[in-house]
Amino acid sequence: MMKTSLEMMTETHRKQSYHSPSLDPDTSYIHMATRLISHIQVGVMLLDEERRLIEINRMASQYLGLERTSVLFHPIEEIISCLSHEQPDFNRLVSFLTSSLEKQDQLEIKWIMRGRINKLLITATPTDRLECDCRGTYFFIENVTKVRALEEQVRCNQRLATIGQIAAGAAHEIRNPLTSLRGFLQVIGYRLKEIGQKKEQGYIDIMLKEINRINHLVSEFLSLSKPDNVNLKPVRVSKVLGEILPIIKSEAILHNIDVMIQTPCKLTKVIADEELLKQVFLNICKNGIEAIGEGGLLTIGFRRDESNDYFIVDITDTGSGIPESLRDKIFEPFFTTKENGTGLGLPICQQIIREIGGAITLKTGSYGTTFSVYLPDTML
Ligand SMILES: Nc1ncnc2c1ncn2[C@@H]1O[C@H](COP(=O)(O)OP(=O)(O)OP(=O)(O)O)[C@@H](O)[C@H]1O
Ligand SMILES: [Mg+2]
Repeated sequence: MMKTSLEMMTETHRKQSYHSPSLDPDTSYIHMATRLISHIQVGVMLLDEERRLIEINRMASQYLGLERTSVLFHPIEEIISCLSHEQPDFNRLVSFLTSSLEKQDQLEIKWIMRGRINKLLITATPTDRLECDCRGTYFFIENVTKVRALEEQVRCNQRLATIGQIAAGAAHEIRNPLTSLRGFLQVIGYRLKEIGQKKEQGYIDIMLKEINRINHLVSEFLSLSKPDNVNLKPVRVSKVLGEILPIIKSEAILHNIDVMIQTPCKLTKVIADEELLKQVFLNICKNGIEAIGEGGLLTIGFRRDESNDYFIVDITDTGSGIPESLRDKIFEPFFTTKENGTGLGLPICQQIIREIGGAITLKTGSYGTTFSVYLPDTML
């Protein structure tokens, strides 16, 4: 069994203070190492040859929801029974912790902490690989949730950029034939009307509607490619919202939805393209109205963040919220749950807001959803 430095360390830790004059240099070095392990922002666990847990630091205890004093020196099989079986990757973690290891190995798991899904990367290393005499296994646990989210964001941006390039090239080629198709269909429609062919005229109307839909889709594609004519200048947020409010209200009335707008705090201006900013608020409000369906409330509120760097517009609906499993997906291009949706609304909004140094966040539950648009405050 590992008559380990760690046992020495724990004893030393318990009995002596670091500044004790009786501490010899080796012991104080070990003591320092123990303190480092306990404070490091990576989870560390050490199993001995008989697979007993002989060290677990603060971060590892926190990540796995284990109390150090209750699990220390217990066999790993016993410790596993203290872990929550409800965890999404419980079985994968168990087989990883209990398998014997010849070489370094890694496992990434989804792990719920404080009600949120996190991603933990666990690296297991046999101690002989660390060139120490004792036999056992070290586990390093890193919370890679943010890194994975950033990687996904980069992938998403790359997809958007590619779509944008293709769109910019193809839009012209698609729009020209559409214009002539529409023109000829309209002519045929008039003729059919003249000779009283109502049914056939109805078909023409459907074809014209579909052509308009394609046109709309092409325009959405185009706004994903970086538009050349972005016009950045100081824009009064209240003015932008005031101008689109009639459009939002007329859509809301159709579905028996009330719209409430707070008076914005002060005369806040942000540097943005006015038309693009309108598009952002319209898209988010439209989503809110669609989420409510029939009868409900759409609220537009304003606030500042604590550090006063951002002016925030909160758009809240009383819809049924966004399920946890979809929250990561809704900003992906083409993700939609609507029969006639393009799934481009939110990615376009996100791109527009990111380009002016802001961000879009959301809070959601069965009571509804709030999208918060963070706009960098220019204090103009
Ligand atoms: N306020 C909301 N409440 C509930 N779900 C929402 C809300 N906003 C967005 N979503 C979800 O996110 C998905 C993506 O939204 P996005 O605006 O990108 O596309 P869309 O609304 O489906 O299509 P389009 O914007 O082209 O009409 C929606 O299909 C819906 O499932
Ligand atoms: Mg939408």
